[in-house]
Amino acid sequence: MNDKELVAIRAARHVQDGMTVGLGTGSTANFFIQELARRHKEEGLRVTAAASSVVSTIKAQALGLPLVALEHLGRLDLYVDGADEVTPQMALLKGRGYDLVREKLLARGSDRFIVLVDKSKLVSHIGEKFPIPVEVMPFAWQLVKNRLQALGGQAELRQNAAKDGLAITSYGSLVLDLTFDAPVDSAALNQQLNDIPGIAEHGIFQDIASAVFIADNGNVEEIWKK
Ligand code: 5RP
Repeated sequence: MNDKELVAIRAARHVQDGMTVGLGTGSTANFFIQELARRHKEEGLRVTAAASSVVSTIKAQALGLPLVALEHLGRLDLYVDGADEVTPQMALLKGRGYDLVREKLLARGSDRFIVLVDKSKLVSHIGEKFPIPVEVMPFAWQLVKNRLQALGGQAELRQNAAKDGLAITSYGSLVLDLTFDAPVDSAALNQQLNDIPGIAEHGIFQDIASAVFIADNGNVEEIWKK
């Protein structure tokens, strides 16, 4: 069993009978979906799931998990997802995928949000290893880019995987990948990005995580927010 699977199985133990659970997106979240579906099927665990992406919806459906659409949800008990970076203060960077809007909605709409990572995701500051994805309405990208540059950053439109066009998110937005030459204060930047019109969502998840589960060579450390 690899570390991603191990940490996902640990998180699935926190699901109790009757819960409404948000499903994240990515390779670690996939292991969680698998384990939740196994518990549903083999242990009779009653659960309602809400997915953060089309790809997670398809996976959950294929494994027989009962799903509810976001528009029918007022609140979730638990959201479980991976992350690209985690700081010691539990600020997260997410969004290598293209589903930031749904991911943040589910994370904010849940009583608890458990983040699953391996040790390689731990950083001292947000943006240390990856650019910060900023999802923009297509007609707003130029104005938003100027605002990001005024904050001292460099922002480039993300290319698609084949590098022959632009990356388009699940909901038709473009992505500006934002970088800075010096370390940034994620709390301040989170606020500044929230205040820029035309940004649909961005990859800083500040003060949202309830717990970070860190896998390291077969061991899992659970760090819960105090
Ligand atoms: C998708 C995400 C993922 O959770 C993040 O990229 C981590 O992915 P993985 O579990 O495959 O390492 O934020 O938008």
